[in-house]
Order: sequence, then C-alpha cells, then structure tokens
Amino acid sequence: MAKTYDLILKGGIVVNQDGEGPRDLGVTAGRIAEIGDLSRASAGEIVDCRGLHILPGVIDSHVHFREPGLTHKEDLESGSRAAVMGGVTAVFEMPNTNPATTDDAALADKVTRAHHRMHCDFAFYMGATRENTKDLAELERLPGCAGVKVFMGSSTGSLLIEDDDGVRNVLKAIHRRAAFHSEDEYRLRERMDLRVEGDPRSHPVWRDVTAALTCTKRLIALARETGKRVHVLHVTSKEEMEFLAGHKDVASAEVTPTHLTLAAPECYERLGTFAQLNPPIRDETHRDGLWLGLQQGVVDSLGSDHSPHTREEKSHPYPKTHSGMTGVQTLVPVMLDHVNAGRLSLARFVDLASAGPARLFGIACKGRIAAGFDADFTVVDLKRRETIRNGWIVSRVGWTPYDGVSVTGWPVGTFVRGCCVMWNGELLASGQGEAVRFLEALRPVH
Ligand code: DOR
Ligand code: ZN
Repeated sequence: MAKTYDLILKGGIVVNQDGEGPRDLGVTAGRIAEIGDLSRASAGEIVDCRGLHILPGVIDSHVHFREPGLTHKEDLESGSRAAVMGGVTAVFEMPNTNPATTDDAALADKVTRAHHRMHCDFAFYMGATRENTKDLAELERLPGCAGVKVFMGSSTGSLLIEDDDGVRNVLKAIHRRAAFHSEDEYRLRERMDLRVEGDPRSHPVWRDVTAALTCTKRLIALARETGKRVHVLHVTSKEEMEFLAGHKDVASAEVTPTHLTLAAPECYERLGTFAQLNPPIRDETHRDGLWLGLQQGVVDSLGSDHSPHTREEKSHPYPKTHSGMTGVQTLVPVMLDHVNAGRLSLARFVDLASAGPARLFGIACKGRIAAGFDADFTVVDLKRRETIRNGWIVSRVGWTPYDGVSVTGWPVGTFVRGCCVMWNGELLASGQGEAVRFLEALRPVH
C-alpha cells in the first residue's frame, strides 16, 4: 500500500540541518511526517516545488504590530498578513502597544485577539517595568509569551528601565533569556541638543555608537553578575559586535536586514526621515562590521524590527518624526538578495532566521525541517528577480524603504503547520495563527 499524507511538497531542494538536496516532504496533521523520496506516496494535496528551495519557516523574532491602541499604524491581522506575504511563518511581537504588554491580562488579551485571526504563528514579549519586576518569573512563562523585553533606552512608547539596579532586579527575577533595546538613556538625554532640526543625518550623531556600546557593556556586566542570558537586539556598530564576540556565553546578538543593507549618509539623503529608526542606521564602517560579525558567527538571529508608522507621522520635520520602518514583508527578499550577492550562504540564512530563534528562545517543534516538527515552510525562488514596490506592501502604512529596489530571490510560498497560506503572492487561507510553544514553559495537558 502506498503511503498517504495530507500534503506532499514534491521535487523541491530542501535546506536543512543535513545540508541542501532534493527531497520530498510529507505532511500529516500539520506536522512533518516524512522527508525523502515520496514518489510512490499519495496525498490530499501535492504541491509542485521543482526549481524551488524549501526552507524551515522563517521566524521573525522582532516585530511591532501595534494592537491594541495604535491600530491606525498596523494590527495583528494586517501585520501578520504582511509576514506571510513575505514568507514569514511566525513572529514575536513587542510590548510597546497601548496599553503596553506588562501583565497577564494584557498578554492574554493579545493572545485572544491573535488566535485564528493572525495569519502566522505568534508569541508576545512581556515588557519589563519597575512595577512588574517581581512578577516577571511567572509572566515570562505564560502561554504565548516569548520572554521579557527591556528598553534600557527610550524609544517609541514609555517602557523604560534605564538604571543598573532596575536591570539587575529584572535579571535576578527571570529565568528565560530576555531581549534588550540597548542604548544608554543617560547619554541619550545628555546629547538631545545634537539633533539638528530638519536634518535626520543628525539622528546617529545624537544616538551615537558610544550610547549603544556603553549600554551593551553595562548589560553584559549585569548578565555575568546575575548568571543570566541576554539577547541584544538590533546591534548597530562594529564596536559592539567586536565586544559581543568576547561574551558569547551570556549574550546572543540580533541584527536587522535594515542595518545590513542601508548606510549613512546615503540613506538619510535618499529617504530622509523615512530612514530614521532606533538605534540608528550608521555609516559603512559599521555596516561592514555587522557583516563581519555575521560571517564570523557572532550574530545569532535576524529580526526585522518591523515598526510601522504612517507616512504622515514620518513626514514631520526631524526630530518631531517617529522612529521606525516596515520590514517583516521584506526580510526574506532582502536577505535572499544578499545570499545571491554572496554575502552569506543560504544555510547561514536558515541558521539566522529559523534555527537561531528556535535555539535562543527554546521554541518547541519549529525552526528545522525534521519529522515531528511543525510543517512550517518558506518556499523561495532563488533566481526570481523582482522589484520591491510600495504597492506590494500590505502593512497598513503601505510603504517600505526598499520601494523601487530590485532583488534576486523571492518568497513564493508560505506554509504554516501544513496549511498553504500564501502561494505566488496570493493569500490562500483565513487566519489560523496559533501561539508558539516554548520548552521552558511547556504545560501539562489535562
Ligand atoms: O525605531 C524604533 N521603532 N525603535 C524602537 O525601539 C521602537 C520602534 C517602534 O516601536 O516604533
Ligand atoms: Zn523594535
């Protein structure tokens, strides 16, 4: 009797922990059932993947989807639609919404809003405050929680713990790896006057390398003192990358496709305040430093830091403008273009975008193509040449810093737990997103 599956992805090149090669994938009940030659098997649905590469589902562990409270910019539905249109199968969403995600009720509210409405799987960070520090050990283990996020420098929203004592108390309280926005708040305050009205080129002058490096050094010292693991989000400088290379036992590092792709002053001259984000895009020396860190293995994960703001909010004269740009839909194409340009291998992309987040955050059954794992796949056409356009961006704000940029390499299919949610640019299913599960927070099933 021929074996039968719900779904077979046939004839693709699978990129996996055992390398890259032609393999069929059999899926049953949303999980990977078999990897190999399935030419004699049958299935309810067979997807022809000849000429395409099949990657483990891309996990974007850093997005801001703005719901509740700021839904004129984005909501969980629109943000996750952008994710799956761009080949992303799971996202971790940040706590600087309104209200901020700082207690169990706010987290449960997000999970309820997201369940079977988001198009991809999801988890939410718990924002750390002085008030909730004592409860974080419980909060970080709640269903749907990706862990704790700390803003050590202020950015969009009011979440902030800037001092060593405050951060030490958070680290003492928690058990999981926490994620940090690392810019020294004291230095940012001191240097406010360096912002030049109407000139976003002064953004990286104000929020300089020393602000980022000083904060990261303080953070690592605190991680050592407390014996805890920290994840440094959006590393932007050569110096931090060199420093972090010496502290890989306690620290993991994220870079964004934005900081790997754009550089000052060109980005500010071309995009003006639309290139403004925190921490800022710096010059070529730093971009090269980030690539070196990536190539040397110092970088553990990629996060898009998808931070939508409306065109109107981005169009005031600097510094009255909001910081941040879209990114979840362009993460895969922008990085595949870098793969095609020889800056990283496809295997390293998978390591950064799937295996990395799974390892750092202890995700259950995602991040690799293996029997028993969730059937999350990002199917890509490495040869397809496309021009990214604002019109393609489904994020509510409808713009990308890559408008008009041509790339080689394109996401053509997104599978979430065996369901084909996007194929060839078409959304094929209604929202079926579920909470990502974490090894450090598995719960007994009754
Ligand atoms: O540029 C940024 N925008 N950096 C952040 O840390 C927050 C984000 C946002 O939420 O807009
Ligand atoms: Zn962010």
